[in-house]
Amino acid sequence: MTKEIMESAAERSSSQQVLNMAVSSFETLSALLGLTAYIEPALRARSAAAKLPAFTLDQVSEHCWVDDCWVVLYDRVYDVTRFLDVHPAGADILLESAGRDATSAFRGVGHSQQAVDALLQYQVGVLVDAECMWPASK
Ligand code: HEM
Repeated sequence: MTKEIMESAAERSSSQQVLNMAVSSFETLSALLGLTAYIEPALRARSAAAKLPAFTLDQVSEHCWVDDCWVVLYDRVYDVTRFLDVHPAGADILLESAGRDATSAFRGVGHSQQAVDALLQYQVGVLVDAECMWPASK
């Protein structure tokens, strides 16, 4: 039984490695070719994200203030407090999603790759596995 569990864990970890390699090869190739392909944030290989703390949606909801504003995008947690004043569409639209999952609002606008890249600097964590909706995002 223990052996089966270990084998299944090893299989899962090696398929994750293959997936990460495929995504990062695609990103490297795109960079080399100078392509500006829009890479869905949920599909990005983010090994660094694994080291960030995990929060529940309940914990995120405590940060719903103008001076302490977190949002969830693609199962990742962002502290956008210092971004409120520089968001091109203003602070109010972001504050509507303060402390919540803002993925569909973010997608609905059709943000550019530049906007997606801007996200990186604000990430403070990930959602706990049980509350993730985007399985490929870790
Ligand atoms: C931290 C998360 C966000 C970042 C980094 C971000 C970044 C940006 C950037 C860079 C732009 C300029 C246009 C572009 O490059 O796409 C933009 C525009 C905009 N954003 Fe956000 N945004 C965020 C979250 C949101 C959310 C949650 C909403 C809610 C609906 C939103 C609504 C808009 C709107 C309406 C525009 C104007 C689009 C236009 O005029 O074409 N943003 N955002």
